[in-house]
Amino acid sequence: MPQSILARAVLLFVGGLTILLAGVAAWLWTQQPAPNVASMGGTASTSRALVGGPFELIDQAGRARSEADFRGRYMLVYFGHSFCPDVCPTSLTVMTRALQALNDTEPGLAAKIVPIFITVDPERDTVEALAAYAPHFHERLVALTGTAAQVGAAAKAYRVYYAKVEDDYASDYLVDHSGFIYLMDPEGRYVTHFTHDATSDTILRAVLRRAGA
Ligand code: NI
Repeated sequence: MPQSILARAVLLFVGGLTILLAGVAAWLWTQQPAPNVASMGGTASTSRALVGGPFELIDQAGRARSEADFRGRYMLVYFGHSFCPDVCPTSLTVMTRALQALNDTEPGLAAKIVPIFITVDPERDTVEALAAYAPHFHERLVALTGTAAQVGAAAKAYRVYYAKVEDDYASDYLVDHSGFIYLMDPEGRYVTHFTHDATSDTILRAVLRRAGA
């Protein structure tokens, strides 16, 4: 094969491969769940395999907890931080109110649901800080912290975004973060999530529909 034809063949091959890889990359990109696209009515479903997974954290009593501890029960999981001025307390209130309302009508089902709060600010949300924070919301709320790496791994599993933000007007830093409430099934698999504008009634109805007998 003359040199120029060989060179052209190599070029064509490389070009074709590049186009193919770009196509695969684009396809993979479209397969990503887009939980930041707010859904109608505050609930949404996405590909279940992509959200959730193992975590190794420490609860507000200082005990090591992993996601395996919650197998056999549904989890309502919210990532946030105790220094959050508005969105986190609101979401935790909405989440735990839904559980309270469920407890009033279906106590058996309510007992099978574990409300979980995972901090994205382990630096300030120590075990002690979470021990003081969690009782404001629910007696059964499991509040979890850990090392920066442990929290990072948990957030990554749930595709939670968070970043420390310096604020010129505040004496301390802020934490920017996504704020979804996830409903996970007894095998730890994703069922659905709720956006920050979901009401406790939306969550209650979804839990009854997805977890009710
Ligand atoms: Ni917040």
